[in-house]
Amino acid sequence: MSKKTIRDVNLKNKTVLIRVDFNVPMKDGKITDDNRIVQALPTIRYVLEQNAKVVLFSHLGRIKTEEDKQKNSLYPVVQKLISLLQYPVTFIDETKGSKLEKAIKNMKAKDIIMVENTRFEDLNNKAESGNSPELGKYWASLGDVFVNDAFGTAHRAHASNVGIASNSKDAVAGFLVEKEIKFIGEAVNNPKRPFVAILGGAKVSDKISVIENLLNKADKILICGAMAYTFFKALGYEVGTSKCELDYVDYAKSLLEKGKDKIILPLDTVVTKEFSENAEGIIVHSNEIPNDMMGMDIGPKTIELFKKGLAGAKTIVWNGPAGVFEFSQFAKGTNEICHILAGLDDAITIIGGGDSAAAAINFGFENKFTHISTGGGASLEFLEGKELPGIAALDDKCCCCCK
Ligand code: 3PG
Repeated sequence: MSKKTIRDVNLKNKTVLIRVDFNVPMKDGKITDDNRIVQALPTIRYVLEQNAKVVLFSHLGRIKTEEDKQKNSLYPVVQKLISLLQYPVTFIDETKGSKLEKAIKNMKAKDIIMVENTRFEDLNNKAESGNSPELGKYWASLGDVFVNDAFGTAHRAHASNVGIASNSKDAVAGFLVEKEIKFIGEAVNNPKRPFVAILGGAKVSDKISVIENLLNKADKILICGAMAYTFFKALGYEVGTSKCELDYVDYAKSLLEKGKDKIILPLDTVVTKEFSENAEGIIVHSNEIPNDMMGMDIGPKTIELFKKGLAGAKTIVWNGPAGVFEFSQFAKGTNEICHILAGLDDAITIIGGGDSAAAAINFGFENKFTHISTGGGASLEFLEGKELPGIAALDDKCCCCCK
């Protein structure tokens, strides 16, 4: 069943509560990647155009102590939002109480308020992440309509997404959530074929359910990143000092049996003696990793192999980098995958969030793919085929009253 969106409800002159995911990476108090804020702007702008009042909610980080609270105020995020939106936003440094209520009561049409970090409520008996019924009800009481545009938190059942949705008369998806459902959902459930998945990253254990789900759906799965070394071990190769999950070797073996016509592993590997940016890298066949060396990236033959594997694909989903892309010397594999995908004019190309999304954006490919997901854990769970509670809690479209 598809979900109602902000186009399906009347927002005119209403107080609209929007859950965004502004859980952005920060260093020394500065935002290092504002993509999640940028991606929420179309929904905020649309709601303003409806002459509505906008109240924004988001979490930032995980709050267990007073010290966490000091470090995770949304104040710098609001400053960034103001500069991106080129529009005033009032920050309320409270998550509930008379200051917030009064500010909302005094709002005029087209005003924006941003509420302080919803997870500050976790110091109150985990009220936010434990989805306290009172808190969800209280936040819902502050507005008329709830819009969830926080795809990144859709895998959580918290008071600020599921709680508000369950207590609001109208609970609908924003444009970003709509886009994520459309692209990732369609890629996994109704892909244009051939459908190829590229799965990288560190661990097989993190991706078990994704691999299993995609083995049933994709036509090919290209494996890369450190995860490949556990598969090498399953084939009986020596992997030297590479990251390898020995507990998952048998599991990798069973996946290789099940997916023997679909799974493609790297042919060659860039190896080094130590895990360091400046370590000297040499290229070896994946079956010849020396005892005292570790894999850091895929090699040139693998890049060619992947190029062939991706030629003619109509849908591609990529999750997880091909190597240690944080070190420029070992970023080639991940960068080349970006180039190959960007060159496939005829294909739907989706980056399933997390590190591969960060890499693609860092390498300048931000606008070269059909969709770069803003979710980390949420995209993974979506790729696993799980229902996401933050989306499930929204109103279903029905044939009679919606478009
Ligand atoms: C994320 O960054 O993946 C989301 O914002 C969710 O954050 P969380 O893992 O702290 O719930």
